[in-house]
Amino acid sequence: MTAPTTGRLAARELTLAYEDRTVVDGLDLVIPDGEVTVIVGPNACGKSTLLRALGRLLKPRGGAVLLDGTDLARIPTKKIAQTVGLLPQTPVAPDAITVADLVSRGRQPHQHWWQQWSAEDERAVGDAMERTDVTALADRLVDELSGGQRQRVWIAMALAQETGLLLLDEPTTYLDIAHQVEVLDLIRQLNHERGRTVVAVLHDLNQAARYADHLIAMKAGRVVARGRPSEVVTAELVREVFGLESVVVPDPVTGSPLVVPGAPWQAERAVGESADASADVSVTAERG
Ligand SMILES: Nc1ncnc2c1ncn2[C@@H]1O[C@H](COP(=O)(O)OP(=O)(O)O)[C@@H](O)[C@H]1O
Ligand SMILES: [Mg+2]
Repeated sequence: MTAPTTGRLAARELTLAYEDRTVVDGLDLVIPDGEVTVIVGPNACGKSTLLRALGRLLKPRGGAVLLDGTDLARIPTKKIAQTVGLLPQTPVAPDAITVADLVSRGRQPHQHWWQQWSAEDERAVGDAMERTDVTALADRLVDELSGGQRQRVWIAMALAQETGLLLLDEPTTYLDIAHQVEVLDLIRQLNHERGRTVVAVLHDLNQAARYADHLIAMKAGRVVARGRPSEVVTAELVREVFGLESVVVPDPVTGSPLVVPGAPWQAERAVGESADASADVSVTAERG
């Protein structure tokens, strides 16, 4: 397990709770700069709770989230919003707002009392809408969009904020497979071309393994494993975290770990068949 030791965003002895229910207890975590970190884990294990705390939407019960070494609680909200963008799992849009207006709200942290809207804001909004394929929806009401369209609008708003750190909670939910890949490729692109640090919660383990530089597996509010997907995604981990039997093989296209769910004897047969079918692709099963 490789744990990064430096990063602009970190959690120190972080405890998160709702009233009398503690969800995360004494968590230490460093988000590596300039990388894509993906958080995976079963439902209700605390992924959203953690992400909201990293974005200061949730106040810690104990410990702290540190940005550049300073407790978030001591940094002005606007300053945080210029640095960290957060797309929550279920964001709520104001009533009767258009797509263009919602995306424009992403620029609020960059506006000043003496200048409400600049050419730079215009460019950032146009760019974000272009990249998420929502330009044609600009004048539509957000309420009247499909789930997938709405999700892309929210991503556009987060992108328009143009923060060095971007936290995305299940950004591919509601999206069809083509738009899922588009969003994941976009995350990669932002990371590669613009050096953005991204933290995303993803449901699909195989997408996580393919797109993450750094993978964090959580269970019951604890980090069970972290590191490169090739180091941490194993049948043992899938069993420990999700209680699921599987076989992990190298993805024939990308080489990243590919989790084939199912009882080992079933998956073993499937692997054997696919290896027979394409003799030039070497598939080796890793069993736990
Ligand atoms: N606003 C809330 N009030 C009370 N409990 C909550 C709230 N949000 C989440 N929880 C609880 O905290 C736990 C972790 O939730 P969450 O972080 O949303 O999990 P995940 O994103 O991993 O599915 C769950 O047991 C959930 O029921
Ligand atoms: Mg969640």
